[in-house]
This record gives sequence, structure tokens and C-alpha cells, in this order.
Amino acid sequence: MNDSELRSLLSDLSLEEKIGQLTQLPGYFQDAGTITGPAGDMGLTQDDLRLAGSYLSIIGAEKLKKMQTEFMAQHPHHIPLLFMADIINGYRTVFPIPLAQACTFNPELIEESAATAAREAAASGIHVTFSPMADLVRDARWGRVMESAGEDPFLSGQVAAAMVRGYQGSDLNEHGRIASCLKHFAGYGAPEGGRDYNTVELSERTLREDYLPAYQAAVDAGCALVMTSFNTLNRIPSAANEWLLREVLRREMGFDGMIISDWNALQELLAHGIAQDQPEAAFLALRAGVDMDMVSPVYARNLRELVEQGKVPMQWIDESVWRVLTLKNRLGLFEHPFRDADEAAEKTLLLAEENRRMARRCAEQSFVLLRNEENLLPLSGGEAVFIGPYADNALLNGAWSIFADDLDTVSLKAALQRRPQTRNVSVIRGCTLSDPEHPVIGFQHPLPPEDLDAEAALAEAVQAAKAAEKVVLCLGEHRECSGEAASRGDLSLPRCQLRLLDAVAAVNPRIIVVLFTGRPLDIRPLSEKAGSILLCWLPGTEGGEAVLNTLLGENNPGGKLSMSFPYCTGQAPVHYNHLNTGRPWKLGILDGRFGSKYQDIPNDPLYPFGYGLSYTTFACSPVTLSSSCMTRSSSIHASVSVTNTGRRAGTETLQLYIRDLSGSVARPVRELKGFRRIFLAPGESRTVTFTITEEMLRFYTLSMDYASECGDFDVFIGSDSRTDNGARFTLTE
Ligand code: BGC
Repeated sequence: MNDSELRSLLSDLSLEEKIGQLTQLPGYFQDAGTITGPAGDMGLTQDDLRLAGSYLSIIGAEKLKKMQTEFMAQHPHHIPLLFMADIINGYRTVFPIPLAQACTFNPELIEESAATAAREAAASGIHVTFSPMADLVRDARWGRVMESAGEDPFLSGQVAAAMVRGYQGSDLNEHGRIASCLKHFAGYGAPEGGRDYNTVELSERTLREDYLPAYQAAVDAGCALVMTSFNTLNRIPSAANEWLLREVLRREMGFDGMIISDWNALQELLAHGIAQDQPEAAFLALRAGVDMDMVSPVYARNLRELVEQGKVPMQWIDESVWRVLTLKNRLGLFEHPFRDADEAAEKTLLLAEENRRMARRCAEQSFVLLRNEENLLPLSGGEAVFIGPYADNALLNGAWSIFADDLDTVSLKAALQRRPQTRNVSVIRGCTLSDPEHPVIGFQHPLPPEDLDAEAALAEAVQAAKAAEKVVLCLGEHRECSGEAASRGDLSLPRCQLRLLDAVAAVNPRIIVVLFTGRPLDIRPLSEKAGSILLCWLPGTEGGEAVLNTLLGENNPGGKLSMSFPYCTGQAPVHYNHLNTGRPWKLGILDGRFGSKYQDIPNDPLYPFGYGLSYTTFACSPVTLSSSCMTRSSSIHASVSVTNTGRRAGTETLQLYIRDLSGSVARPVRELKGFRRIFLAPGESRTVTFTITEEMLRFYTLSMDYASECGDFDVFIGSDSRTDNGARFTLTE
């Protein structure tokens, strides 16, 4: 449709039809067919269901085509529905969780995996995905850390933008693309105490400096929608925050797409205590600029009366309906209401071998080798026994993989059995995944208790460990321990797993831990007892294959941490790009009591942001600068030469950090400004050059201008955020 046709459609719609366009309902309301259960409880009528603009979380080409056909036939203006769903890290082929994908430091690969997910989801009839989540996170207690790209604004922005490009391509109307909904705007990743849905306290400076850049990167990449967050900012819930949505998001950040609230968030304005009833909630949200109400009755039940009473101007309604219709039009739904929904394509495309290959590649690149004493890894073949609750476990998809089937996932045991050299290795459970006293509450349904004779299982594991040359211990958190509403107050591994570790370590010190988790954990016991630790996160459909390829050295791990692993829970939140304080504490420099430190634990995380080893070793030369001085219109080239000093080919990710030594406001001790993945054969060297521009030196100054200030800067280039391989330069007018 052209714009004037769309305008005339808008002007033809009745008020009820317009309000319908602003309402999104869950798919199961349609399945139910009649107004009973939750839809009835919400006070919705058959008309609300009949006129809705969108349904979420229903999938399947056949089903959605039928639903679209029936819906359009009965709609007074035959307006097609938008089908939205959470395609977070894959649809049927599941990729590693986003936190793991970020460890690849490979935006091109992330873009390709998002494109693969889009193709699969589009074939099943989906039009919009609620991804990427660009919420910066510094606190591993927050369960949704798995959906983020970690603690760095720059890396988070690169990941979010790559995902948007992957989903949407260059034109939303392209075959196999879906629209991307950036979320959760804004600051959702900073709840107090790491508890999901909790209050967020961010200064405007910190919000702008650290939290907004990743969202901005996704907006710049062209995301078609933005979802508001559940939290308050400055005590105003995002869904009612006019300043945040109209001033910051639309005017400053330049977003002109559609804004949708998060699940039931408009109704929750009452619980937040800023709306005394539903009509007030509807008024506040529409005034703030929320176009579509996700799964709450607030718009559907109240906007009509508000308009009739003259409290809500028709223009607000029309603006929002216009955005919804525009998105439908950009997606080509008026001409092709089924879009790519295709039962035949579903059969060939979902879980296609090339998609699995992509998932494997992505998983392999996301693994982070945290320790490798005495080169315990790689294995040479079948010399190890595999013990632990993840050794034979297909629960390798992240919590949001709601459309995937675990039966499609390759467990480690299945992968072992596929190869002649590992076919006969012993695989022993050793203990349950979770402690019986902390049963895991599932996202979609309660989980049955794990059935195991704990003492017999432990004894069997000890006996096998005693006899083996090496032990591969497959440990970690249950996937339902991370994700939405899965915050934790203790980041330790389950007690039963620590007991297994102790018992095995007592009889065989040659332990390799393969760690599966959706978040950084307190892994001190692993660092003490295991010679090697391979962090595999929740690696997805091809997890078992990817892990085995890596254990056997067919893949040389090169992932780098997208988030620090805290020393212990009490250290959270911890992030490398902190401020210096007036009393920075370094052993031996400001010794004694009055430094900024803990009495009982170190300040540094156990493993810092950017960290990750390889089966080979790399050496990096000192940083050389093309000049020690730059002006606002010039730039400096900072170079190092990196050499593979080991015996295997491998990838090193060089990271560029900059520190502004003095500014009108306190500046972080360092900030990531660039990175480069370099693949090197044994003995090979490469010179790597980063260009430092004035733009990289900008920040929110005392007067809140986004600008650079003259003075001295340290630049560091190295293999993680702790590198002290640096040089100094000066910015002059
Ligand atoms: C989550 C969103 C998600 C939405 C729809 C909410 O509970 O916070 O991230 O996209 O549900 O499923």
C-alpha cells in the first residue's frame, strides 16, 4: 500500500477498530475460541479478540495461515494480524544464549545466526521477534543476564546491532526476514540487588553514558520496534515515562518505529502506584507514547471512554494506529498476509543441516577456556571418563528456547557415541543437576524431582574417576536457573555438584570441568580443584557436538568473557569499567585499612571481562602510536604485533581500551573501544592497527554535552581487560 492508501484506511476505521490495532493478545486466547478463563478474567469481550492488532507466542505455518484467513475475513476492514514471538537465540535450531554469543566477539557470525533464526521463524509464520535485548548487566544475580551481551556498552551495542541486521536484512519485506523489537527500554538490566522486576536507580549520566549506547546501536541499525521495560527509572515506570519514550527515544535517539509495552506492563502501572485505576494507566501509557498494549486489558477496555470523555485526544490514538499499520505495511502484510509462512519450507528449513552447522560454529566460537594447567586439554581421544549431570543431558538450550524441542539437541553423550575414538568412554551421572532442597521452578511448567540414588551415584563416579587417566566433569546450573524471573541470591554451584567435585578430586587430580551455565557463577572451587575449565554456557542444539569438537582439539577455543566472573556472590555487581574512586586500592600501594576494598575478598573478579585462553599461546608486542598527540580533527594509529607462539592454529581477540586520565567528571579506569579477531597459524605474526578518533574520547561532560575534553589518555591493547600493555597520548585543541 502506498502512504495515501494507508492514510485512507486509517481514516476509515471506527474507534473500536483503532483501539483493536493497539492491542496484542496471547495466542491461546484465540485457541480457546470463546471468552472464558484468562481472557474473561481480564474483562475482554469477543469484540476485543475479533479486532486485535496482534497475537503473540503462536507458531506454525498451517495454524497461522488459517488464523490469518479467518481473522481477516471477519475483520470489518480485513486488516491482517501481526504475529510476534520471542525468537531469542534461535527458533527450532537453537544457538548459544546471547551472553555466550557475545563471547565470540564476532558480530558477523551473530548476524548470520540471527538471520538463520529469522528464516526458520518466518517459515513458521512469525513476523516480529522480541529481540535483541540490549540491557547492559553488571550483576550476575539477575537471571536475565543470559539474554544480554554482558557488561560492556560497546560490545553490547555491536551485538545488538548485528542481531537487528540479521533479523531484518536491508528490507523488512525481503523473503525470510522478520522485524526486530529491541528491548527493554530502558535500564531493565540494573535492578537493585539483581532481583528481576525490581527498582532501578540510575543517574541520568550513567543511564546515558553506559546504558543507552547499546539501545542506540540497535536503533541506528534500524530495529522496527522497541519494547518498554518493567522497571522504574527515576521512579517512573518506563511504560508511562513520557520523557524516556518521547524525548529520549524518539527525539534524541531518532526512533520512529512502533513502541510496545512488555507483558501486562500497563496493568502493572497500578501496582507501581502511579495509576489509581485502568483508565489512568491507559491515559499515562498513551501519553508517554506506548503504541501497543501487550497482553493487558488496559487499552482495550478503557481508551474508548477516555476518547469520548475528551480526556484522550483522537490524535494520540491515530498516531499510534498509524505506527502499527505502517509496520504491517512495511512487512508487506496487506499484499501477502501469510508472508513466508509455508508448511513445505518448514519441513526442509527448520533444523536443516546448514542451520545446525551454523549453530555448531557459533557454539564453538562462544566457548571460553578459563584454565588449562599442564595442557590437560585437548584430549587425545578416549582417555577420559565423563562424569556429571551434564555428561548425558540434552537440556542445553537457554531458558528462552521456548519453541525448540530438547529431542533435537545433541547431548555430550550422544556426540561421544557418534565417534569411533570416544564411542566406548564411560559416561556417569554422579549426582543430580540441582539440590533436592532447592527444586527448580520451571518457566513453562513445574519440573519433576530428579530421581537418583545419590550415594550409589557418587560411589560409581569415584570408582570410575580412580581408574581413569583424566576426568571430564560436566557441571553447571540448570537452564531454568537463569532467564526471566530467575534471579539468585547465591551464585554457587549446587551443593551436590560440589560434593561430586570434592569426591572426584580426592582420587584423581587430572580434572577438566566443562561448565554449563546461563550466568557467571562463583567458581572458586572449580579453579582450586580442576586443572582445566572450559566454559560452554548453554550452547544450544549442537551443544554436545561443539563441546566434543573442542575437547578433542578439533576446535581451538577462542571465546572471551562478555561478563566478569565474580570472585564470589558478595562482589556482585562487578565490572571492569568502574570508576577509580578517591582511594583506589592496589596491594602494596595503598596498604592498610582505608583503601576502597573488602576485608575478606579481593576487588578483582576471578576472571575478568575479555578474558579467555586458547590451546595455543599468543604474544603481543608493546603498543606503538603513530603520534603521541592528536587534535579533534586528526587521529592516531595504535599498533601491536601479535604472534602465535604455540603449536596450534588459533584465534586471538585483541582488545583496545582507552582511559581518560582526567575529565570534568570522573572517568572509568578503562573502556573498550574496539576489538579485532585474528586467526594465526603457529609461528605466524600479524600487525594489528586500531585508529583512535576523537569520537572514541567523547563522554557526557559536566554540562551533559557529549564531547571530548583535552588532556592525556592511556591506550591499552591486549588479550583481556586487565592488560597493562599501554601507551599514552594527548588530545589538544
Ligand atoms: C518479557 C519479554 C518478552 C515478553 C513476551 C515478557 O515477560 O519480559 O522479554 O518478550 O514477555 O513473551
